[in-house]
Amino acid sequence: MKVLNFGSLNLDYVYQVDHILIPGETLAAKERNTFCGGKGLNQSIALAKAGIPVYHAGMIGDGGEILLDTCRENGVNTEFILKIDGPCGHTVIQVDKDGQNCILLFGGSNRSITREFVDEVLNSFEKGDILLLQNEVNELDYIIDKAYDKGMMIIINPSPYDSALDACDLSKVSLFLVNEIEGYQITGEKEPEQILAKIKELYPKAKIVLTLGGDGSVYQDETGIYRQGIFKVKAVDTTAAGDTFTGYFISSILENMPVQQGLELAAKASAIAVSRPGATASIPLREEVLNCELS
Ligand code: RIB
Repeated sequence: MKVLNFGSLNLDYVYQVDHILIPGETLAAKERNTFCGGKGLNQSIALAKAGIPVYHAGMIGDGGEILLDTCRENGVNTEFILKIDGPCGHTVIQVDKDGQNCILLFGGSNRSITREFVDEVLNSFEKGDILLLQNEVNELDYIIDKAYDKGMMIIINPSPYDSALDACDLSKVSLFLVNEIEGYQITGEKEPEQILAKIKELYPKAKIVLTLGGDGSVYQDETGIYRQGIFKVKAVDTTAAGDTFTGYFISSILENMPVQQGLELAAKASAIAVSRPGATASIPLREEVLNCELS
């Protein structure tokens, strides 16, 4: 069984600010750093750091070689990452003194996925393989349909949620990882219990992880509902915390770990990521997660 993550790779330009800008305001940043990121890349790195071999498929543009290097350094298979001409996917991220962020995303090379490229990548995968997706690349609906036809198991973190997801047949998804906002966007419900109930009604066969910020996370499948609180740390930068959770929780499923243990592992890994700057750079190795003493 192979794991394919078809997703974005971004250069994150991270600006340290006193507070997140308001409309019309000009503010001097205290510091700027460039980090490797993208929801896709972060989740591949989280899987790899958790010990799961993963193939990443996607496209990088000008200046994106560092993203490829990061994959290689962390043991992510890069044979399906294509270098194209033109702007690389990138973001402008403000991080305030409390570690909260806001992200402006420019798709660039992540939006150049062609159906031919999708077909070529999926040719190397088969029934029973896992496909992980987020919503930062184009052709998401086509990727889902083709992977489903092959019998791959589809896991989606539908983030950031936008109209591209309306074109996707989400009944083909086996596992959703969503936050409350995405849960609302999919179901029209605001309360966690209602979101879970509606997902069950809309997609009876799907499992779901609903992350609730400071209130932790909830997992629902046919056996019931499992809850996990957060581990408290001093927030330095919340970027990639959700991606770390996603990668680690999926790793726990692939290792047949009991659900409660998997949620705890993912919550610990994401807490460590919150306590550090950057995206991929903030994701801890499995050893560290297992040995950390957080409460
Ligand atoms: O989830 C965090 C990621 O979202 C950042 O690394 C940024 O690239 C955006 O895609």
